[in-house]
Amino acid sequence: MYHTHTLQERIADELAELRIPEQPANLYEPVRYMLQIGGKRIRPLLTLMAADLFSISDMEAAVPAAVAVELFHNFSLVHDDIMDNAPLRRGHRTVHEKWNPNIGILSGDNLLIMAYAQLAKCPANNLPAILETFNTMAAQVCEGQQLDMDFERSATVGIDDYLHMIRLKTSVLLGAALKMGALLAGANKADAQLIYDFGVGVGIAFQLQDDILDVYGDPEQFGKQRGGDILANKKTYLLVKALEMADTATRSTLNDWLADHSNPLDKIRNVTAIYDALGIRSEVEAAKQLHVKQAYTALDALPVEVARKTPLRELAYRLLNRGQ
Ligand code: IPE
Ligand code: IPE
Ligand code: MG
Ligand code: MG
Ligand code: MG
Repeated sequence: MYHTHTLQERIADELAELRIPEQPANLYEPVRYMLQIGGKRIRPLLTLMAADLFSISDMEAAVPAAVAVELFHNFSLVHDDIMDNAPLRRGHRTVHEKWNPNIGILSGDNLLIMAYAQLAKCPANNLPAILETFNTMAAQVCEGQQLDMDFERSATVGIDDYLHMIRLKTSVLLGAALKMGALLAGANKADAQLIYDFGVGVGIAFQLQDDILDVYGDPEQFGKQRGGDILANKKTYLLVKALEMADTATRSTLNDWLADHSNPLDKIRNVTAIYDALGIRSEVEAAKQLHVKQAYTALDALPVEVARKTPLRELAYRLLNRGQ
């Protein structure tokens, strides 16, 4: 088996070696920038770790798929930051802030094209299944992103709607990243499905944690603007649960703050105070643990030697207990 660190380095090297043209600079400079500011690069690691879990004979065969997953993720973030009006990403200015929204749209598109160029390098016998997994995932991410935006303007979003939305916008990418690694290693359908389910469970827990960090994280560490979700009226687990738990008077105050766009800092402060008073954070933590448990149930069900699963367990643990 490979050390997680070795796989991480392999991904970093491959990303650093991508040849990105110089001109037009306003197209390719943002692409380079986005990849250079880095991020945790969890998703490509999942692809390689799944390939390793199922004892792939040649790890190099899984590298392009892993890189494709990271390129797709970066594409989705550049566009997400436009949609969310976010000023900060990975502790740096977002592409649309540093340049402008049109540049964000087009350089994001370019990252997606680069992802497909990597997919084309997958072994020919695996390519149909890889493309099917990737394309299904990619369409679902768009569906989730649309729901995320629709929900900003909806007063009737429940916890189940929220969970459906984050499964699409966030979790299926983690699931697909793992499944692609499994497919490349020749795993059977049932096992590929189990590792996918593990990824989806981890992904849901991951997005719940991201929602918590958006309010309670250290912006230095988290690398994103604190309270961005509150300012955008995002129907996060926190907000949906707060609207559900609040008494009539508190719900009315909360709704007044949702309608208020006059003072961003006041809005963040007051909505956070309502979350605190309702004890929302521990509600989200509990939901997160439930999905972590579901994820581990899928991993446990895999008919693979237990020791081979340790690196994925450890990665999930680190990922879900992080501050960024
Ligand atoms: C950010 O994902 C988008 C979410 C699904 C919350 P990451 O937190 O993995 O972003 P980077 O790539 O490490 O910056
Ligand atoms: C992430 O949702 C989903 C995608 C980027 C597809 P968020 O909007 O919560 O992600 P961050 O917080 O901006 O990273
Ligand atoms: Mg966002
Ligand atoms: Mg978003
Ligand atoms: Mg977020």
